[in-house]
Amino acid sequence: MSIRILATSLLVGPALPDLGARYPDLRLAPFRSPEWNAALPEVEAVVVLVSESLTETDLDAAPRLKAVGAYSVGVNHVPVAACQARGIQVVNTPGVLTDATADLALALLMALTRRVAEGEALVRSGAWKGWAPDQLLGTGLNGKASGILGSGPIGQAFARRVSALGMTPIFWGRNCRGGEVDFGMGRAPRMPLADLLPRSAVLSLHCPLTDQTRGLLDQSSLEKLPAGAVILNTARGGILDENAAIDLLESGHLGGVGLDVYEGEPRINPRWLRAPRTVLLPHLGSATVETRASMAHLLCEGLASALGACPSH
Ligand code: DGY
Repeated sequence: MSIRILATSLLVGPALPDLGARYPDLRLAPFRSPEWNAALPEVEAVVVLVSESLTETDLDAAPRLKAVGAYSVGVNHVPVAACQARGIQVVNTPGVLTDATADLALALLMALTRRVAEGEALVRSGAWKGWAPDQLLGTGLNGKASGILGSGPIGQAFARRVSALGMTPIFWGRNCRGGEVDFGMGRAPRMPLADLLPRSAVLSLHCPLTDQTRGLLDQSSLEKLPAGAVILNTARGGILDENAAIDLLESGHLGGVGLDVYEGEPRINPRWLRAPRTVLLPHLGSATVETRASMAHLLCEGLASALGACPSH
């Protein structure tokens, strides 16, 4: 008998358990475990997390595969072109994590510019001796420009948040045609990277990792940022050249870096742990109960439609 759905976890909320009740042949197995590998030849749909990279070899081993479900908006861990060439549908979770991800980028921004982690550590250490005029001074944001890489829904949601802080959003998009982006609380210019970087007191990444964006922020790009600029990455590691960013933090050129994603995560470049003016989070962009449940719901709806009618049981 074929296995209709192979997943590595039940995700969050009732959606996948409910789908499993409708399709009783839902199999749970850790990614790349012997059970997972053994199930592939029989499977019709496979669900992968953002930390689980599916390869073309996996597709070769799964001749009955009709759908790949990515529990993420980003699909850089799925061989999308190979799936399309084989008629395998790729289902992901766009839209529902827009606000959660933009909120987390804002949290990184505030934590960095108002030195939240350092202040908290000072109080917890017991070493705080009381208010002082020059203690843990941060940086104001009102009136400054925030460069936003990616003019899609998450970039626009971040623009709304920084606008509320009195900042001016400016955009770069992968298909940069100039013009303006209507971000829902106003319009902001879209411009080439070389024009955007020197104006950006804050630079927030909200574009997918593709061949076009891999290594986009290399040393020469980063050097175009104004002194004291703050970088936020809630998109994907691999867009930012991490060693170049650390060099520029250490030299004092960059004012701070806030990261939620890393190249090769969960492995972290050990230089980050020693670098000054950083806030480092463990890929929490979509991590709210509501968002993760909505992602599961959307994913399961897409899988049910790709698999077709439920078997009668
Ligand atoms: C995504 O959806 O792509 C996030 O990185 C994980 O939720």
